[in-house]
Amino acid sequence: MERLVELAKNLDRVVVLTGAGISAESGIPTFRGKDGLWNRYNPTELATFEAFERDPLLVWQWYLWRMHLIANASPNPGHYALARMERLYPSFLLVTQNVDGLHREAGSKNIVELHGNIFEGKCRYCGKHYSEREFAELFPFADKSFLRSVTEQELKERVFPELRRNLPVCKRCGELVGPGVVWFGEELPPAALESALRASSAAELFFSVGTSAVVQPAASLPLVAKRSGAILVEVNPEETPLSARCDFVFRESAASFLPRFVEALSSR
Ligand code: APR
Repeated sequence: MERLVELAKNLDRVVVLTGAGISAESGIPTFRGKDGLWNRYNPTELATFEAFERDPLLVWQWYLWRMHLIANASPNPGHYALARMERLYPSFLLVTQNVDGLHREAGSKNIVELHGNIFEGKCRYCGKHYSEREFAELFPFADKSFLRSVTEQELKERVFPELRRNLPVCKRCGELVGPGVVWFGEELPPAALESALRASSAAELFFSVGTSAVVQPAASLPLVAKRSGAILVEVNPEETPLSARCDFVFRESAASFLPRFVEALSSR
């Protein structure tokens, strides 16, 4: 790490890409790691538009369960370290695949949410987008303070039986509204992808933190940065397809590596 700190303190343009691994220590399951969500649930039944059309109740039950988990979770030292790191660099962009909003809660400002935000709403029929506040009004079960007021058992025993009659209906077109996340087979928000690509191709230092680096187009961002001459760093307890392309690899958790690194960087 010493060598990386030496290099990093003389650079200006930094991009950090995060995935589910950074929120694992906040109690939010990853997708493909041990106990990952996709080892327990079938994504084609829960995270595609076709699944939503087939069984919107099942899809909303699953997303409310995840929203409940996230609403009752807090940022961990890994999230806070990145918020602090942002203030050390003149050009810093945090690109996250996570939909949990924990980076923003930890104080990060310059964020691109590539896969959306689970507390927002998106009508796939007319394209209307609902901010977190608008969606909590349209669909009170999605309100964070409501989700913090019920236990998981109460969610399943009291909320789920009421769900069929209370699914969110679009104010503009009257169709059912889905969660504000990017499902498999859907386009990423163009502006988000464009700013992530632009920053990656201009980066001098690129961190890949807590991602299995298999889902496109996010998994291409580190390679875009590498091709443009950036130093590539991976923080992940496990090997990924990206590891061999990295200049530095830290087989550690995000919450253990990032605070130490940022502390060493800021004490220089
Ligand atoms: N710190 C750092 N990395 C960790 C930690 C931790 N505490 N715990 C697990 N990891 C690593 C795992 O080793 C794994 O490589 O985080 C990675 C998580 O990978 P995935 O579960 O595949 O999550 P992610 O890469 O974010 O998935 C990308 O796929 O399912 C879709 O839309 C979803 O955004 C998601 C996308």
